[in-house]
Amino acid sequence: MTSAVSVEQLSISFPSAKTRFTAVSDVTFSVEEGQTFGLIGPSGCGKTTVLRAIAGLNTGWTGLIDIFGAKLEPGRKITGDTRRNIQMVFQDPYSSLHPRHRIAHILGEPLKVHGAEGIDAAVGIALDRVGLSPALAGRYPHQLSGGQRQRVAIARALLLKPKLLLLDEPTSALDVTVQAEILNLLNDLKASHRMTFILVSHDAGVIGHMCDRGVLMSHGRIARALDRAALSELTEDAVEAAAWDETPGYRGN
Ligand SMILES: Nc1ncnc2c1ncn2[C@@H]1O[C@H](COP(=O)(O)OP(=O)(O)OP(=O)(O)O)[C@@H](O)[C@H]1O
Ligand SMILES: [Mg+2]
Repeated sequence: MTSAVSVEQLSISFPSAKTRFTAVSDVTFSVEEGQTFGLIGPSGCGKTTVLRAIAGLNTGWTGLIDIFGAKLEPGRKITGDTRRNIQMVFQDPYSSLHPRHRIAHILGEPLKVHGAEGIDAAVGIALDRVGLSPALAGRYPHQLSGGQRQRVAIARALLLKPKLLLLDEPTSALDVTVQAEILNLLNDLKASHRMTFILVSHDAGVIGHMCDRGVLMSHGRIARALDRAALSELTEDAVEAAAWDETPGYRGN
C-alpha cells in the first residue's frame, strides 16, 4: 500500500503576547491510501491545528508533511494537483460558507473554476446525495439549520472529488439519525471515489464506526497509536482522560 499522507515530527506554534505557544509537538503518523485515519482527543489537544497544516492553512509549522508524494512547505500556498486533491470540511460550517452567496453559487462556483459543464444539475445531485432538497439551492447559509449547513459543506467538498478529504467533526451539529446517514454516505462515497479520509472527532462512537487506524492526542502530542481493535474499544472516558494526562514538555494554555 502507498502512503497518501505522511506527517513527521510536526510541530506547530502560534505567536502570543510573550512567547510562542506550541499547540502541536512532534506528531508523526502516516495514512494509507483508501483508509480513514482518526485524529482523536479532548478539546484543545491540537486536532484542528494538525488538520489545518495538512490543508496548507497553518503556516508556522516545522517537520515534514507529504501528500501523495508532494512535500508541503510552511508558508507556501498549496497549488496545482495537490490543491485539487485536498478538500476540508470545517468544524464550523457557518464560517466556511460565504454568507452573501446562495447555496447554488457556493456549490457551483468551485465547479466553474475547474471548467465543468452541467453545473445546475451537478448541484442538484450533490444536494440530493447529502439528503437535502434541491429546492434549498436558492437559499443563503443563514436560512439553513446548522445540520443543513454542515451537509452543504460536505456536499461542496465532495463535488470536487478530492483524493484526500479532511473532516473536522463533520457530524457534531447533527442529531444521531442524520449523523449516521452522513457517516454512511461518506463511507459509500469514499469507496466509490477511492478517497482517503482524515477524520477529527472526540466522539468514540463515530471513530469506532469510521476509522481503520488513528491516534489519540493529548496536549498537542500523540498519546497512543490506535489500531482497529483499539479503536473499536475506545470509550468516551479514555478520550476525556487524555485531557488530564501529564505530558512531558507540555507548555500549558
Ligand atoms: N490561531 C491560533 N492562535 C493561537 N492559538 C491557537 C490558534 N488556533 C488554535 N490555538 C490553540 O492551539 C490549541 C489547539 O487548538 P485546536 O483548535 O487544534 O484544538 P482541537 O483539538 O481542535 O479542539 P476542539 O475539539 O475544541 O476543536 C488550543 O490551545 C488553542 O487555543
Ligand atoms: Mg477543533
